[in-house]
Amino acid sequence: MRVPGARDRLADGGVVRLETERGPYVARLAGGRPVVHGALCPHRGGPLEDAYLVEGMLICSWHRSTFRAADGRAVYGPACEDLAVAAARFDGDDLVVDLPGEPSGA
Ligand code: FES
Repeated sequence: MRVPGARDRLADGGVVRLETERGPYVARLAGGRPVVHGALCPHRGGPLEDAYLVEGMLICSWHRSTFRAADGRAVYGPACEDLAVAAARFDGDDLVVDLPGEPSGA
């Protein structure tokens, strides 16, 4: 999927919620690169739009489950499952997201 004009919206710590056929996702920058991850924490559904981003780690604001932003791996806290992460890149000012099972660059 393509998100027109997302580059500016993600600047300065902004987040963009994406409603997809695979459920809600959140786009943000981590280390200057776009990261797109599931919007709900796999622990108890905490809203990850509110997650803290610290040194490449996403920390759920509800119970502090911690996930690597790059690949969604759960590394700390009560979450037993990894966080869904989709491949993402900028194309000009647009964000292009390759959701699992979706043709690349759709
Ligand atoms: S809902 Fe995220 S850690 Fe519990």
